Amino acid sequence: MKAIEIRNKYLNFFKAHGHQIIPSAPLIPENDPSVLFTTAGMQPLVPYLLGEKHPEGTRITDFQKCLRTNDIDEVGDNRHLTYFEMLGNWSLGDYFKEEAIAMSFEFLTKELGIPVEKLSVTCFAGDEDAPRDNLTAECWKKAGIPEERIYFYGKDDNWWIAGEEGPCGPDTEMFYDTGKEPCGPDCQPSCDCGKYVEIWNNVFMEYYKSKKDGYTKLKQHNVDTGLGLERMTMLLQGKKTPFDTELFEPVMKRLEELAKVDSIESRRIVAEHLRASMMVIADGGKPSNIDRGYVLRKLIRRMARHLNKLQIDLSELSNLIDLNIDTLKEMYPELVSHRDEIKQVIIEEKDKFMKTLVNGEKEFAKAIQKAKQENKNVIDGQTIFKLYETYGFPPEITADLAEEQGFKIDTSEFETLFKEHQEKSRMGSEQKFKGGLAEQNEVTTAYHTATHLLNAALKKVVGKDVHQKGSNITVERMRFDFSCDHKLSEEEKQQVEDLVNEWIRQEIPVTVQEMKKEDAIKSGAECMFIEKYPDIVTVYSIGDFSKELCGGPHVKNTGELGKFKIKKEEASSAGVRRIKAILEK
Ligand code: ALA
Repeated sequence: MKAIEIRNKYLNFFKAHGHQIIPSAPLIPENDPSVLFTTAGMQPLVPYLLGEKHPEGTRITDFQKCLRTNDIDEVGDNRHLTYFEMLGNWSLGDYFKEEAIAMSFEFLTKELGIPVEKLSVTCFAGDEDAPRDNLTAECWKKAGIPEERIYFYGKDDNWWIAGEEGPCGPDTEMFYDTGKEPCGPDCQPSCDCGKYVEIWNNVFMEYYKSKKDGYTKLKQHNVDTGLGLERMTMLLQGKKTPFDTELFEPVMKRLEELAKVDSIESRRIVAEHLRASMMVIADGGKPSNIDRGYVLRKLIRRMARHLNKLQIDLSELSNLIDLNIDTLKEMYPELVSHRDEIKQVIIEEKDKFMKTLVNGEKEFAKAIQKAKQENKNVIDGQTIFKLYETYGFPPEITADLAEEQGFKIDTSEFETLFKEHQEKSRMGSEQKFKGGLAEQNEVTTAYHTATHLLNAALKKVVGKDVHQKGSNITVERMRFDFSCDHKLSEEEKQQVEDLVNEWIRQEIPVTVQEMKKEDAIKSGAECMFIEKYPDIVTVYSIGDFSKELCGGPHVKNTGELGKFKIKKEEASSAGVRRIKAILEK
């Protein structure tokens, strides 16, 4: 079944169940400067979830164009996308759990023809804010899901909210079993090994969370659902990645024909970022150095760089845009009506970038040479800033280039320089910069220190054999990979979280010392790649439980971190687990 058929089936099914079909809101939210892009179908409906009357009634359905860029650096693997389409149905104070679940089940099994054996579901296990959702489990049983495929999880998995405040509630998620071998005896839907793929989420929105008052009940109970179209298309077609479906396949194939260098990651990045940029431009986006424009700039520049990496002539871009419009025009006619604008914006931005790319890459090669001579594994902030200011390299691109050569970049020094530069040039009256650069310094520094606390807490709770295998920090979250042979239990996760928060509560100073590398190792300081460090190293210590070789920067005291929260624990690769966590202020 093609994506457009799935979309049409969905809308017609809910129409037949009394829903009004409404058009997708634009990707760029109207009259809402507080968010950069529409990230979920419920976002444009918030006033109605809170009780305002929707002109179309209490049962609504639509397809919503969404853009999520938190994981932009993961695009290129077999599943991450920035742009995606979410199919949704809403009850605005109308039906609730029973009817929502019955309809979801009917749609999946009858309309899409998914065998019941392929489906598992998860429900909210309950906590101090809301009770265990037994009713939802009962509804699934009644619909036909056997008890052994109904799982209960806590807030990390089965509670949904957009951001930190707003309408929210327990959710129930539906998973498709791909038939892959389980990754271990604990393999279940919450596992990220690829056996189970989440296909649909029904959120029972009857709460409101505010930072000030915590959770309160809404005036009405609502249902908010989201079904990812690309993923469903991939599964129903038996494809391994969304890039193998008709949504991407023509462009992927063309890229393969044109490329002189074979890189599936680069082809996926080009195809994905091209589609996402086109969708943003069709909805009025323009590249710039702040906010939404910055995200678009980042998408186009990363795409151009990867085209370059594939050694595809950049004059092909216009043809690639035409091909993509052809592929997607039935689903998104706005691409046809904005063809000229899309081409103009993308090609102009690409030209700006290309002018500087060659020189920038030369400058970068020099920086690498220098770092190697100095026995360093980090590209300093001055260089990143120069690449940004003189050559228009967003730091993400410098980070990409650095990573390809086994180097890291010193973002904190860069951000300090960037801030100074920004103040000097007064780039705009409001400095919102969400997801941009200006606020990053403080936030990423805090996450950096939290990474050390998490590493130490895992050793205490899970065992001494836990070692760091990788980490990645953005302004939104931290990600930490560590060696561990099992999925963490709920208790282990809770203990780790509690221990980190306890250390934060104790307001422990973070100290730094310079010492010879071998002395540092002898003193028991940890590090990931010993050979990558220079002879004299800096060692950061926190209390008597954490000592790591690290370039910093860190906060001065753990008390500055806010509240630590584990959002997800999942498999990363064989014997390596991954935690995603946030700090709440
Ligand atoms: N709002 C819910 C989600 O995005 C349906 O998963």
